[in-house]
Amino acid sequence: MLAFVRRLRIAPIALAIALACLPLGAAPAADTAVHPEQWPAAKWPLPRNAALEQRVAELMAKMSVEEKVGQLIQADISAVTPEDVRKYRLGSILAGGNSKPEGKTTATAEQWKALADAFHRAAMDTSGGHQAIPLLIGIDAVHGHNNTVGATLFPQNSALGATRDPQLIREIGAATAAEVRATGINWTFAPTLAVPQDLRWGRSYEGYSQDPKVVAQYASAMIEGLQGKAGTPKFLDASHVIASAKHFLADGGTKDGKDQGDAQVSETELREVHAAGYPPAIDAGVQTVMASFSSWNGQKMHGNKALLTDVLKGRMDFQGFVVGDWNGHGQVPGCSNTDCPASINAGVDMLMAPDSWRGLYEHTLAEAKSGAIPAARLDDAVARILRVKFRLGLFEAGAPSTQPLATKSAEVIGSAAHRALARRAVRESLVLLKNNHGVLPLDPRKHILVAGDAADNISRQSGGWTLTWQGTGLGNKDFPGAQSIGAGIAEQVKAAGGQVEIAADGRYTNKPDVAVVVFGEDPYAEFQGDLPNLLYRPGDEHDLELLRRLHGDGIPVVAVFLSGRPLWVNREINVADAFVAAWLPGSEGGGVADVLLRKRDGKIANDFHGKLAYAWPGSGVHGQGESRFPFGYGLRYADHAEALDLPEASGITGEQIPVGNYLERGKSVRGYTFRLLGADGVAVAGDTSKSGTADGSLRMSALDYKAQEDARRFEWKKNGAELAIQSRAPFDLDRQTNGDVLLVTTLRVDALPGKDAWIGMGCGAGCKGRVNLGPTLTSLPAGTWTRVGVPLKCFRTAGADMHRIDQPFVWGAGAGSSLALARVALGTDADQVVDCPR
Ligand code: BGC
Ligand code: BGC
Repeated sequence: MLAFVRRLRIAPIALAIALACLPLGAAPAADTAVHPEQWPAAKWPLPRNAALEQRVAELMAKMSVEEKVGQLIQADISAVTPEDVRKYRLGSILAGGNSKPEGKTTATAEQWKALADAFHRAAMDTSGGHQAIPLLIGIDAVHGHNNTVGATLFPQNSALGATRDPQLIREIGAATAAEVRATGINWTFAPTLAVPQDLRWGRSYEGYSQDPKVVAQYASAMIEGLQGKAGTPKFLDASHVIASAKHFLADGGTKDGKDQGDAQVSETELREVHAAGYPPAIDAGVQTVMASFSSWNGQKMHGNKALLTDVLKGRMDFQGFVVGDWNGHGQVPGCSNTDCPASINAGVDMLMAPDSWRGLYEHTLAEAKSGAIPAARLDDAVARILRVKFRLGLFEAGAPSTQPLATKSAEVIGSAAHRALARRAVRESLVLLKNNHGVLPLDPRKHILVAGDAADNISRQSGGWTLTWQGTGLGNKDFPGAQSIGAGIAEQVKAAGGQVEIAADGRYTNKPDVAVVVFGEDPYAEFQGDLPNLLYRPGDEHDLELLRRLHGDGIPVVAVFLSGRPLWVNREINVADAFVAAWLPGSEGGGVADVLLRKRDGKIANDFHGKLAYAWPGSGVHGQGESRFPFGYGLRYADHAEALDLPEASGITGEQIPVGNYLERGKSVRGYTFRLLGADGVAVAGDTSKSGTADGSLRMSALDYKAQEDARRFEWKKNGAELAIQSRAPFDLDRQTNGDVLLVTTLRVDALPGKDAWIGMGCGAGCKGRVNLGPTLTSLPAGTWTRVGVPLKCFRTAGADMHRIDQPFVWGAGAGSSLALARVALGTDADQVVDCPR
């Protein structure tokens, strides 16, 4: 580090802080014994309220056991109707990342309000002698109200961590609450209090910091913003929502950063690192806590009574309710998505049962009646849920669309004030890693080239949990009122009388004075973002080539890197004159120009403020290599540090099996082989451009898709032949299956005379699941490339064991068929999604 930074004094101190903050590197304890008395006590801020207790008791005295069980169940709007709510008296509904009113990706406030009203009416219907109990409606408003078109999109949490500004966090919470409430929704599944320790975890960007102290400080600020401050009249009033501290516990501590994995850490580390946000959250009166999908030392959190009940509700005095995560209960040993008394008995009060709610309701009801769920546990869970509803004033609030903010949603959602706040957050979150010869700030009166494929792409700057679950499949038109980073720079440069050119590929007409290159990760969310190592886009160097080309042309280059997390980009840093970590800034891209550009009079407009909340990796290997940019690092304009080159060896050797890409440019990717299987049962390798089975039943030839020979054509001469992508070792696709993940095949139909085709997955000898493709393929226009998605769930329903897939893609068609193939990968975005029996 000293070699790297010559005139910068703060860095060594920052390193010392970073080291002091590292988790206690103790060997993982294998046991799961919990000592609640060693955990920090918290203090629930709301005094006992006799009137509230009386209302709860009176209501519960009138409720049947069916009504009580209904309160415990939360269904997803994609799988439940108001009629269902009327009949089953469910306590809550949620809108998952891909679940929208009328199935619209770009759902509007009006559509959300209509949906909320319809469900509200159902819950309040007292026919049949039922009690009217208003619904909690939950949504992932995790960086603003990100499931509503036109909402303000704040920077994602890893960016907010860099601001070190709790007051800003509080204001963002309040603005988010207002936008959510304006759509008739009353609950957000936020904040995430993960303390991510391994950046390979794709959800790292949902966490504020690797440092428990930053997370603890932000926890109370965000909860006070969302819910209002406990003890004041604003607490849980009509401009606030209830929050969920999630995911309890150690979601950010799983081995190898695997999503929904196992945190193999000691009780001390669990408590001191991963639990740091919870006592302040409870002190702030957080109304719900979400259980984590993950395990602690092999034990699933959804079944961990010691932590959920003894620690959280006992020692930490948490008096809200615990909500489960998306069918998370189904992963507890002995449970299924539709049956899990163990989870309720462990302390989960409300189960998130998106598509499984009906079966879960039936089983839970039977278990409540048989005593498998003790009456006292049932009553405790119901009382906790009802208290939250009373505290939020839902019994008096009326229909969602008639509530104060909902009546003026057009003014509230994406308001100028909220956008200004988001833009301030962007300015504060940018971290400057390098600024040789003071290339920044830029003179806006010069000729500036804005290049890179993320220069004018609001989806790329927003990341996952944006309009869709994974944030994929979106274009700038889906973000009315938002501004891309490139557009923000252009606006200010033009206003100052300078010249600006935006060209993603960096091809300029007149040589610019300076180039700003905006590039980085594609959007992702749960498990789609998990990485085998910390390399940025291994095998794809187009960004690096662009930086090198501009540098080679003698143009000073400013790199603006968009990412949910720090990644190993030493080569990109070396070739750039300045390097800015811009994270995932959201809808207000103009905040980047506010800092990068000088004022017209030459003065600095806004200085850099951000400090790394996650140490930048010094190697592609997690945990290895000295970081030149430790936790707390971040230059200011006055620092004038001249950076020396970073080592360009990533430390990654050997093969890396990519997660979820099976066939690229017509060829199987590393770790996989391509096989053609004849109708006679004899297989041949297919990793050449031209091949065919010995019996002549299947022929393969090369074809051009976007480039020369980047696709393959298959011709079936007889029935019974198939092709398969074979992996070197079986792998587990179960968690992807539980989500909305698709197997996406980029294909073209040239002939399908018998209308007979299928796609399958293999899972070892005699194990497979096949899905009929005939109807989908016959509906496609012949000769056009289409991305066809098959939900992984379909393969499971069809018999595949998703825990041990060794052939992620098997294809067959009838004699006379001719099909072309360019790419096979897991994804969430497709042109056509195959309908398959549940
Ligand atoms: C995620 C949660 C989220 C929930 C509802 C889960 O898969 O882990 O963070 O709140 O889905 O969308
Ligand atoms: C939902 C998300 C959820 C995820 C769980 C998706 O289908 O849209 O909200 O978090 O599944 O795996």
